Amino acid sequence: MVLGVEISAISLLLLLASSASAQDGVFDIKKYNPKADIAEALSAAFKDACASATPSKVVVPAGEYTMGPVDMKGPCKSTVEVQVDGNLKAPAEPKGEPGWVSFEYIDGLTFSGKGVFDGQGHIAWANNNCNKNPNCKSFPLNFRFTSLKHALIKDLTSKDSKNFHVNVINCENVTFQNFVIDAPAESLNTDGIHMGRSKDIKIIDSKIGTGDDCISLGDGSEQVTVTGVTCGPGHGISIGSLGRYDNEQPVRGVFVKNCILKNTDNGVRIKSWPAMKGGEASDIHFEDITMENVTNPVIIDQEYCPWNQCTKDAPSKVKISNVSFKNIKGTTNTPEAVKIICSSALPCEQVELNGIDLKYTGTQGPAKSECKNAKLTITGTLNPPGC
Ligand SMILES: *[C@@H]1O[C@H](CO)[C@@H](O)[C@H](O)[C@H]1NC(C)=O
Ligand SMILES: *[C@@H]1O[C@H](CO)[C@@H](O)[C@H](O)[C@H]1NC(C)=O
Ligand SMILES: *[C@@H]1O[C@H](CO)[C@@H](O)[C@H](O)[C@H]1NC(C)=O
Repeated sequence: MVLGVEISAISLLLLLASSASAQDGVFDIKKYNPKADIAEALSAAFKDACASATPSKVVVPAGEYTMGPVDMKGPCKSTVEVQVDGNLKAPAEPKGEPGWVSFEYIDGLTFSGKGVFDGQGHIAWANNNCNKNPNCKSFPLNFRFTSLKHALIKDLTSKDSKNFHVNVINCENVTFQNFVIDAPAESLNTDGIHMGRSKDIKIIDSKIGTGDDCISLGDGSEQVTVTGVTCGPGHGISIGSLGRYDNEQPVRGVFVKNCILKNTDNGVRIKSWPAMKGGEASDIHFEDITMENVTNPVIIDQEYCPWNQCTKDAPSKVKISNVSFKNIKGTTNTPEAVKIICSSALPCEQVELNGIDLKYTGTQGPAKSECKNAKLTITGTLNPPGC
């Protein structure tokens, strides 16, 4: 059996030669001689995994690490999983990179693990003057997901991002599951998950606490499902703002169900800028939502104009239609629990209020619901009354 021994020795040598770092398609960053900053090791491991003709996995094992910006770019030869169980810290002082961790042009990505991605945003928030200066310096996002198809992002935590935690652009079929976003209420401009020009996006069983919108849907968001999400602190779940830029794509088909909003500014909201540009938001449905101590729990605001960046002298050119708010319960801390303020030029059509029961907990009562320029259907309870 000398021959057999020789053959297995040769195949062992071939195996070692063909892949210095992978075993069964697993690319552990520890095999890439990581330095104090693991950015290079992770990039190299991803590159090898991406070149693998069979499904592969990159692993960042449990531990504490620092890491500079990493851009993981496809197309890859097969599906890739990136499993991060370690806790990563971003550089406190960024060098102008748009994002800290970026994934681009990958078909079949799983991004998973127990890891916490700490963006170390405190310095950035303190220096953020974007509410006064439209040309303000922009800080990196924790995660950029660009042009992905069929991706699953699960179990990870995004903490203290310097800017938005997550931006999903030009993606299709991306699911966030058991994803955690954790930043304080005072962190400026830190939207949780923002998406735009993307289709078939799901956010499931996730916990989002941050200083701006928990979830925001920009133009071109289609077929979006949000279920089992707890939001707070934060500015709620928002469609828009729309109508600010030229050539915005419609937002169509949004289902938000079984969510809890806790101590948030705004609950569920659709917002568009007055005057300015056109746009469309349709087929948007909010159902089985619990509000706990929320400011403006139910709101369509077509006069959205923060920091006086616009004039309100002309109505919004964004058309809103087929919107329902069903079974929305809990408490509000402003007397205006329901506020449907649509455009006088393009009134909202097919807006349904069905089973709204919001108790006002403050002292500036009485509470009321207010509706303007909307074709409404009201069924079941409407508490507080109005509209
Ligand atoms: C969406 O992506 C997942 C992988 O995350 C895949 O299993 C599923 O089949 C895809 N769905 C569609 C409709 O392509
Ligand atoms: C309203 O939206 C729902 C969900 O997308 C859709 O099934 C329905 O056809 C829409 N109704 C109209 C009249 O557009
Ligand atoms: C309710 O919300 C208000 C305003 O956001 C906040 O000041 C207050 O602390 C909250 N109350 C509780 C019990 O969390």
